[in-house]
Amino acid sequence: MKGNILVVDDDSIIIRSCRGVLEPMGFDVNGTTNPKEALELIKTHDYDIIITDMIMPGIDGFELIRRTKELKPNTAIIAMTGYSIKETIKDTLEYGILDYLQKPFSPNILADTVERVDNMSRKLKSQGAVSGDEAADGAHKIDAVNALIKQYKTVPGSLITVLSKTQEILGYLPPAVQRLIAKGLRIPVSEVLSVVSFYPCYTMRVRGKHNIRVCIGAACYAKKADTIVQKLCDHLHFNEDNITEDKKFSYETVRCLGACASAPVIEVDHDSHGTVDPDKITEILKNYN
Ligand code: FES
Repeated sequence: MKGNILVVDDDSIIIRSCRGVLEPMGFDVNGTTNPKEALELIKTHDYDIIITDMIMPGIDGFELIRRTKELKPNTAIIAMTGYSIKETIKDTLEYGILDYLQKPFSPNILADTVERVDNMSRKLKSQGAVSGDEAADGAHKIDAVNALIKQYKTVPGSLITVLSKTQEILGYLPPAVQRLIAKGLRIPVSEVLSVVSFYPCYTMRVRGKHNIRVCIGAACYAKKADTIVQKLCDHLHFNEDNITEDKKFSYETVRCLGACASAPVIEVDHDSHGTVDPDKITEILKNYN
């Protein structure tokens, strides 16, 4: 049996949906539409993970997270919201969430997020740690990120360098890792989030081994960038996270890659490809194993 999960959402359909996905995975899932009842359950039960909506009548998600951390600091928390995810993350990062779900989310995204948080949570507990600061998907990666922060913590203006190198190590910058970096560099977590949100090269979601960025800015769009997207999707069959099943490729669209004269443009990892013929997209991808 995997961990115990409590889902708190004033919409009972969300709770049923979470059950439908997580119980077949081996999780023991309890749910309530009433945040007050949730707090009583948290007092009397040891949940490994709490998945909570942020906007609820009476006690909202922020208050629920704050009280949960007081009562059971080891509990891993996933925040879910249908509203401004950026603002929500900024606020909930301060409270120590391990990850987030933006509504509406697909069963795959729910399953991946919970699986990842469950792994983090087990690791943290096995180390006797109680904070989410060490959240990452492997001990060696955490060590590498910690070493990086130590290396740069006295170097002024090193945030961009640390973020880029951390993304190289982990492949993405989940909220818990942003918090780790903020703490290490002694800067507000909101500053880290602002930088991560501003630069399109950073991602808070897992990417494939090779990441494809398709420019759909005006110059590229005028030269059939939409056909490139269509051909890619037809060829690679991305899931809802825009990752192929074998995790070899992921893709995202961006507004301009700064090479408009060569439109349409795509980037695969750090390689720029200009004047792309949509029918030759598979030829380009053959170079990436
Ligand atoms: S619009 Fe595509 S590179 Fe500028």
